[in-house]
Amino acid sequence: MDKEKLNSIATNLSKPPKGILAADESTNTITKRFDTINVESNTENRRRYRELLFTSENLNKYISGVILYDETVYQSTNDGVNFPQYLKSLGIIPGIKVDTGAVPIEKNSPEKITEGLDGLQKRLEEYNSQNLEFTKWRAIIDIDTNNNIPTEYSIELNAHSLSRYARIVQDYEMVPIVEPEILMDGAHDIETCYKITSNVLKKVFEALNKQNVYLGGILLKPNMIIAGKKSTEQASTDEVATMTLKCLNENVPKDVPGIVFLSGGQSNELATQHLNKMNKDSKDSHWNISFSYGRALQQPSLSSWMGSYSNTERAQKELLKRSKLNSDATLAKYSIEDENSQL
Ligand code: 13P
Repeated sequence: MDKEKLNSIATNLSKPPKGILAADESTNTITKRFDTINVESNTENRRRYRELLFTSENLNKYISGVILYDETVYQSTNDGVNFPQYLKSLGIIPGIKVDTGAVPIEKNSPEKITEGLDGLQKRLEEYNSQNLEFTKWRAIIDIDTNNNIPTEYSIELNAHSLSRYARIVQDYEMVPIVEPEILMDGAHDIETCYKITSNVLKKVFEALNKQNVYLGGILLKPNMIIAGKKSTEQASTDEVATMTLKCLNENVPKDVPGIVFLSGGQSNELATQHLNKMNKDSKDSHWNISFSYGRALQQPSLSSWMGSYSNTERAQKELLKRSKLNSDATLAKYSIEDENSQL
C-alpha cells in the first residue's frame, strides 16, 4: 500500500476551499429525482444531466472530486471525452460508488445492511484502469427509538462491511470514503442523534482498526448531529455545530485527514450554514472539514434544468452558486446574505 499516495489523495479531496460533488445516484435514485421534474430517466438523459453538471464553468475552483456511478464512468461529453478523463483534465479527481445498495438484514427486518463486497476486487481492478482514485460505500442506520432501532447487531454488521470494504480498496491504491449515515427521517431529538452517532462511529473505528485500515488514507463522510425531520424541536445552527464537533472530537482519530459531510436531506441553506459554523468553531482542527453533498449541491440545478437544453446555462449557474457558497463555508466565510447573490 502506497500510504503517501493515499494520504495525498484524501488530503486534496477534503482541503478547503474545495469539497466533493456526490453525483453517484444509482439508476433507481436518479429516476426518483427525474420524476420530480417530469424527465424520463433513460441512459441519454442521465448522460446529459451529468454532462451539464461536470461542464459547469469554473467548477474546479470549488470542487475537488466527483463521485460517479458505474454507468457514468463509461459515458462521455458531447465532444466524446470520457467523463473521468474530462474531470481529470480540469484537475477534479474522479471517484466511484462501489457499494451495490442496502437490503434488509433479515427477511422482513426494517434494518438494512449494505452489499457489494462480492466481486469488489475485480471491479476495483477495472476502476483502476479507468483512472478512478477514490471510492464510496454508504451504510445506512435508521433511528426508531420506540422499536429499539438501531440494534447493536445492525451497527456491528455495517461497521464490519465498511471496514472490510475500506481495507480492500486501500489494497488497490484508492481512497475509501467511509460513510456511516444515520438517517434524519425520524422524530428523534438531537441528543438521541448524538448518542447513536457516537456509538456508530466508535464501532466503525474499532472495526477499521481491526482490519488494519490505514486511517491516514481514508475520508469519513458522516451525518451532522441534528434532530429528526419529524421532531418538533429543531436545534439551532450553533447547537448543531457544537454537538457535531463534540461527537467527532470524541470518536474520530486525529490521523484521519478529512471529514466530508453528507447533506442527508437538510435544506441547501442549512447544510451550508452548519458547515460554515463548524469551520468557524474549529480553526485549529486536526482534520479538514468539508462537504461531499449530493442533494444540497444539485437540487436548485436539477429544478432549473427540467430536462431542457435551453435551461442549461441557468442550471449550471445554480450548481456553481451552491458550490461557491459551500466552498466559502469551508473557510468560515459564508454569510446568509450571500444566498441573495446574483447568479
Ligand atoms: P446527500 O448529500 O444528498 O445526502 O448525498 C450524499 C451522498 O453521497 C449519499 O450517499
